[in-house]
Amino acid sequence: MKDIKLEFLISEIKKSQQGNKLLIVTDRNVEKFYIRHIENLFKNSKIETQSIIFEPEEELKSWQNVMKILSILENKNFSKADGIVAFGGGTIGDISGFVASIYMRGIKLYHIPTTLLAMVDSSIGGKTGINTLKGKNQIGSFYSAYFRVLETEFLKTLDEREFRSGMAEVIKYAFLQSTIIKEVEQYFNGNKFLGKNDFNFFKESLDFLKNINLVDILESFNFNEDEICFDDIKFNAPSEEISLNSEAFLFNEINNSTFTIINKCIEVCSIMKRLVVKLDNKDDGIRKILNFGHTIGHSLEKSFDYKITHGEAVAMGMKVETLIGMRMKISSKETFIKLSQILQNFKLGNESFLNLENEEFKNKIINNINSDKKINGQDIDLIIPVKNNKVIIKCIEIKEVKEILMEILN
Ligand SMILES: NC(=O)c1ccc[n+]([C@@H]2O[C@H](COP(=O)([O-])OP(=O)(O)OC[C@H]3O[C@@H](n4cnc5c(N)ncnc54)[C@H](O)[C@@H]3O)[C@@H](O)[C@H]2O)c1
Repeated sequence: MKDIKLEFLISEIKKSQQGNKLLIVTDRNVEKFYIRHIENLFKNSKIETQSIIFEPEEELKSWQNVMKILSILENKNFSKADGIVAFGGGTIGDISGFVASIYMRGIKLYHIPTTLLAMVDSSIGGKTGINTLKGKNQIGSFYSAYFRVLETEFLKTLDEREFRSGMAEVIKYAFLQSTIIKEVEQYFNGNKFLGKNDFNFFKESLDFLKNINLVDILESFNFNEDEICFDDIKFNAPSEEISLNSEAFLFNEINNSTFTIINKCIEVCSIMKRLVVKLDNKDDGIRKILNFGHTIGHSLEKSFDYKITHGEAVAMGMKVETLIGMRMKISSKETFIKLSQILQNFKLGNESFLNLENEEFKNKIINNINSDKKINGQDIDLIIPVKNNKVIIKCIEIKEVKEILMEILN
């Protein structure tokens, strides 16, 4: 999978696709800002576009919506030669990927991520999923996009809360960096038969990652909301089509150095995710580390009926999982403090939203751990941070996790 810019979108799709139909799956917010722009791109080409627009919410990842997308594909006679464009954040990516993987046993999928979270994480690696009453991503598949278009200009219309939510995944990668470097190095040095492309990819990625420290970048990141001016952007942005390079877009309002840092974060995280997925495509081994913060995070998301964002839940999840690590004498207090401070830079990981007073709510959080996909019989794999941006995968009895969690919540 490679990243391409929007201007090459049509020619790349033309090259890769024999059919002439594309279904654009998106949500109401993305539609408002960009759908005309995307549709216009295809106007003078042979490709015919249709769009399906969902309400922007986690609940869009449902069976009912899968059926809606499938019925459009059938009714409009989409063939295997046609394709689906996932145009939006992680929710849109997850449901579009799932449908693309099952319609006619798989049609071409193109990701155009529009949130920070989707750019750094969810649009890479081919995990798709929808939620059920039991929990998040209970049904899904592994299905990689044919390519993804990385255009960071989309971030200009993202609201502050969603920007912070994406930063939670960036912070997660920062705390995984040394483990990823070590694992990739071992694989690279021990594998004498890599093809030229893989050899170059591993070598260049390792050289790049060894010269950059994401934790250092995030520690020094001075997140100044006044400077970023998200509200102004929302207020001023025309509700109709936006020309991606127009001045109305207000990108200039944002200090260049801030955006240089955000772009750097996207680059570093994308490389880390690609490396991990190359080593373990199906989540059987090292890929599990990407779940740091997600066991508790998913449980929180469900307990809050998805009224908190994925990133907010993961941020709190990383803190709680580090606390569990401390109780087990694996994580140090210094690691916890460093994590908390970096999260705090982005107003993430605030304990008050655990609603500690409410017994029933505490039980809900604890019991919702039961729907975690990483449960294996009586045990669960938790990702616990150790020193210097390293983590370990620790198999723990669920009973023990619940007991520690109860202590922490009290
Ligand atoms: N498949 C994976 O590997 C993977 C990895 C991490 C997370 N996820 C999933 O991703 C989802 C979270 O993704 P998300 O945080 O992108 O949420 P999201 O898709 O709900 O988008 C967040 C909000 O931003 C709005 N939005 C999107 N792009 C915008 C833009 N450019 N300008 C203005 N508003 C915009 C959306 O309408 C929505 O309201 C969760 O369902 C999570 O489970 C999947």
